[in-house]
Amino acid sequence: MKACIAGIGSYVPARVLTNADLERMVATSDEWIRERTGIRERRIAATGEACSDLAVQAGKRALTAAGLSATDLDMILVATCTGDYPLPATACLVQHQLGATKAAACDLSAACCGFVYALSVADAYIKTGMRHVLVIGSEVMSAITDWTDRNTCVLFGDGAGAVVVSASDGKRGILSTHLRSDGTLCELIMVPGGGSRTPPSEKVIDERLQYIKMKGNETFKVAVRTLEEIARSTLSANHLRVEDIDLYVPHQANIRILKAVMERLGLPIEKVMLNVDRYGNTSAASIPIALDEAVREGRIKDGSLVMLGAFGAGLTWASAVIRW
Ligand code: UT7
Repeated sequence: MKACIAGIGSYVPARVLTNADLERMVATSDEWIRERTGIRERRIAATGEACSDLAVQAGKRALTAAGLSATDLDMILVATCTGDYPLPATACLVQHQLGATKAAACDLSAACCGFVYALSVADAYIKTGMRHVLVIGSEVMSAITDWTDRNTCVLFGDGAGAVVVSASDGKRGILSTHLRSDGTLCELIMVPGGGSRTPPSEKVIDERLQYIKMKGNETFKVAVRTLEEIARSTLSANHLRVEDIDLYVPHQANIRILKAVMERLGLPIEKVMLNVDRYGNTSAASIPIALDEAVREGRIKDGSLVMLGAFGAGLTWASAVIRW
């Protein structure tokens, strides 16, 4: 038996923050941001709009696409690093809002890899008897962004994407998932304050430790290397060649990272889903938003062979191959 994607949906907040807007906030330029990252604009949650609000919208759309109701769900997994509260899990708020009365609910923390990690958990649960698992990647990155730090504030955006993972006995479904981590590089991307190591305090606020810090240049190099490595091992585990892939849907962090990966793998740009220009890096939401757009644009059809590739804080990296 396989686990397949029975429905997909996404939601992004209405407010658009352009590079021109950022030029008025920090010492940056539209030209620098476009050339170094490929980003033109990103979405920002409204005041009071939290991770679960985005997740619920995306989840409803995925359920509609799957032709299911919330009471059909056995489990809800929310991949996020920007949940509504430190406690309880955002997935429980989503469970309540959707009315998924029979579902277990928990969050999964693997930063930008969260969606692919959660997809692998859903895959395993479907193979061991669950029928329908809702997997959501949802982030309000704007809440942990330091809007005075030009090194990071130009990169991130808010949004959510969701899939319903269901049992399938046919040929379609998740062929394999691959998960990796290397905690020796944990300091490359970090929110240093606000957790149990350095609980919230005046010092945390004064030193702006509640915001995301990133060693961008070092992260860039590891991202290219690990995305290539995991794509190659994923293909080889499935006895596939790069040419067999119909669409590669990578984590949308930076167009230059993705172009370097495409070049190393020999993947033509027509076979890569790119939307970093419109949303920036939405962490765990980035792959499901891109997947949803690819489906709606007709770039993924029944039978398409789709490969996912993610990379992020931890460090973590992950991939999956899906026969759609
Ligand atoms: O999803 C999690 C994974 N995260 C990533 O994959 C991010 C990976 N890293 C990156 O995307 C890139 O490293 C960045 C876009 C963050 C930075 O690009 P870069 O080409 O690596 O630039 P850099 O860090 O080497 O900085 C080059 C220069 C520096 O100035 P000096 O020291 O050369 O004078 C920076 O201060 O660019 C400067 N700079 C900026 N200038 C204008 C940094 N940020 C900005 C900015 N506007 N926003």
